[in-house]
Amino acid sequence: MKKGKLIGKGRTAEVYAWGEQRALKLYYPGYAADAIRREAEIGQIVREAGVAAPRVYELMEESGRRGLIYERIPGSALAAMMRAHPRGLFKHAREMARLHHRIHSCSSTKLPRQKDKLEQSIREGEGLLKENTATICSYLHALPEGRQICHGDLHPDNILVTADDYVAVDWSNATIGDPLCDVARTSLIFLSPANLRDISAIKAFLERQIRRWLNRAYIREYCRLAKVSRERVDVWILPVAAARLQEQVPGERKWLLRLIQRRMKSMAAARAE
Ligand SMILES: Nc1ncnc2c1ncn2[C@@H]1O[C@H](COP(=O)(O)OP(=O)(O)OP(=O)(O)O)[C@@H](O)[C@H]1O
Ligand SMILES: [Mg+2]
Repeated sequence: MKKGKLIGKGRTAEVYAWGEQRALKLYYPGYAADAIRREAEIGQIVREAGVAAPRVYELMEESGRRGLIYERIPGSALAAMMRAHPRGLFKHAREMARLHHRIHSCSSTKLPRQKDKLEQSIREGEGLLKENTATICSYLHALPEGRQICHGDLHPDNILVTADDYVAVDWSNATIGDPLCDVARTSLIFLSPANLRDISAIKAFLERQIRRWLNRAYIREYCRLAKVSRERVDVWILPVAAARLQEQVPGERKWLLRLIQRRMKSMAAARAE
């Protein structure tokens, strides 16, 4: 079979139609075969746990690049829909919260532990975090453990909207842990200044304001469904921000460092009281 049209693109791969019902995730050259096998395994684990994720089929090679065949989700990426139909923005943010809450109703014992992955990422960012690294790691270990399936990177580019559902794709970062940590990561992505560098200052200002409102609508709906306070999400922001530093997302570094610094200061002030 030959690959069909390009239906999506991310930081690790392009995704092409593969016949009518399937999609080929074609990784960029140099992407490790082990990471692809692991992604396939995680995809199977989350489906077995009852999550509505795309089915995973076989690994393959196409034009010298490694690929993985998935069930094709017949829909549009939520990010594109949000850009095309700004009127439905807040409904989409609430639906994201509902999807996230559904994901968190599933559990498994076969995925990596959230805190282990976070700690590893925080330690990888040590060059920037310096002496704060150890403090943030011990703070992380005092937070709740959790046993739920967490997506690890739920944002509008990793959600497809079909005729009757919202479906999360890109499960390679899934872990077992505290759902509120997963929510904190989504929130951080909403608030990130990334992708705002190539537009005018006024447009960037408006875009960030909209993202703040979307974040508020998303968190409010999630906290309502999970019956938890916002503060319980907020306690995760420090380790989640510290872990994100090593991803080196363009335009984020200064913002993350400032946010981490502020959180460290208020922690120290609270201790001194
Ligand atoms: N099973 C699927 N069916 C239909 N479209 C898909 C499917 N999987 C992925 N896509 C589309 O392809 C895009 C890229 O896929 P994916 O997010 O898995 O790539 P990635 O490189 O891992 O992304 P990231 O940059 O988040 O790491 C998605 O945003 C989505 O629009
Ligand atoms: Mg993606």
